[in-house]
Amino acid sequence: MCNYTHCAQRSEGAAMAQGRIVLGIESSCDETGAGIVSDGRLLAQVVASSMDEHARFGGVVPEIAARAHLHSFTPVVREALSQAGLRLSDLDAVAVTTGPGLSGALQVGLAGAKSLAYAAGVPLYGVHHLAGHVAADTLEHGPLPNPCVVLIVSGGHTSLLLVRDLVRDPILHLGDTVDDAAGECFDKVARVFGLPYPGGPAIDRAARAGDPCTVAFPRPLTGAKDDPYAFSFSGLKTAAARWAERHRQTGEELPVADGAASLQEAVADVLTRKALAACRAYAVSTLVVVGGVAANSRVRELAGERCAAAGVELRVPPLALCTDNGAMIAAVGDLLVRAGAAPAQLSVSIDPSAPLEYAALHPVAGPRSVRVA
Ligand code: KG4
Ligand code: ZN
Repeated sequence: MCNYTHCAQRSEGAAMAQGRIVLGIESSCDETGAGIVSDGRLLAQVVASSMDEHARFGGVVPEIAARAHLHSFTPVVREALSQAGLRLSDLDAVAVTTGPGLSGALQVGLAGAKSLAYAAGVPLYGVHHLAGHVAADTLEHGPLPNPCVVLIVSGGHTSLLLVRDLVRDPILHLGDTVDDAAGECFDKVARVFGLPYPGGPAIDRAARAGDPCTVAFPRPLTGAKDDPYAFSFSGLKTAAARWAERHRQTGEELPVADGAASLQEAVADVLTRKALAACRAYAVSTLVVVGGVAANSRVRELAGERCAAAGVELRVPPLALCTDNGAMIAAVGDLLVRAGAAPAQLSVSIDPSAPLEYAALHPVAGPRSVRVA
């Protein structure tokens, strides 16, 4: 087990890491994550989840999440340092999610990250959670091509982005959801189907035994006159709830597997259709699919098939890096450090509803004006 004491000597892990060492902290929802990245390389990642504590309420209870972060913060950071063979004094920077997310949950992570940065005497970077999801892929597949189209699909967000240099350039939104996020649709429909929380993985598991052609669920906003890159999942959610209701009224047992497979097919179809349309329209040859819903087996499969047919390279992070984790925040911190970005002040605060405009959530004159070769 490592300890937090300062030590003049570089530890074994630090001697092996060639670049500067960045600790990333994530606490925006129900996962407390700590990850360590150096020069684009993942050195450690640890996640503690309070998911089980929320299950009986059918969704995340913000106060329970915040308290769980408080309990998990220190052990998770200790374990990450231990995995990497590092001490606190080996760190060169700390990056932390400052938004968007649950206010109390973000506060705990930020307070902890500030304390660590202050204790270690290193700079602190405030990171946008969704930029973290994007950067997660670099830990597996290396630097992102410039430009690339990114499809972010999580529990709270669904967006199609044109990403140039992730930490230097503004992030261009091609389209966003006009109502529910894809993950939210899975979570809410799972509840109606009587599946456990979190709904996305439960729908994915149930769908394996189902037939995706059983129910012709709508493909929202895919008409000729619709915005080609905007998403809407609230109508689909209602259609699935109505289907379940109609079935129950007949007194028959609900064919959950068929419903799950059909819903998953509709979501995967809409997501990948729009993402590939964006690649074609912007002549971009790489699609990156990230966020919790990128863990969905059908989304991954259909994206693979459609990208192969269109000659587009598909990048999807491994499952453990799709859902919330600290490594993705460390990955953004590492990019910011290498780009010479200005760190945050220790007075930096959270922004629970931060729009995704830049990867860093505080003014970073460095990367926006300075180009590093
Ligand atoms: O990115 P994430 O971990 O947290 C947010 O930033 O929201 O995403 C969580 C979402 C939840 O809605 C969860 O149900 C969904 O990702 N999810 C999945 C799968 N694994 C997680 N949805 C469908 N299939 C999965 N295998
Ligand atoms: Zn997330």
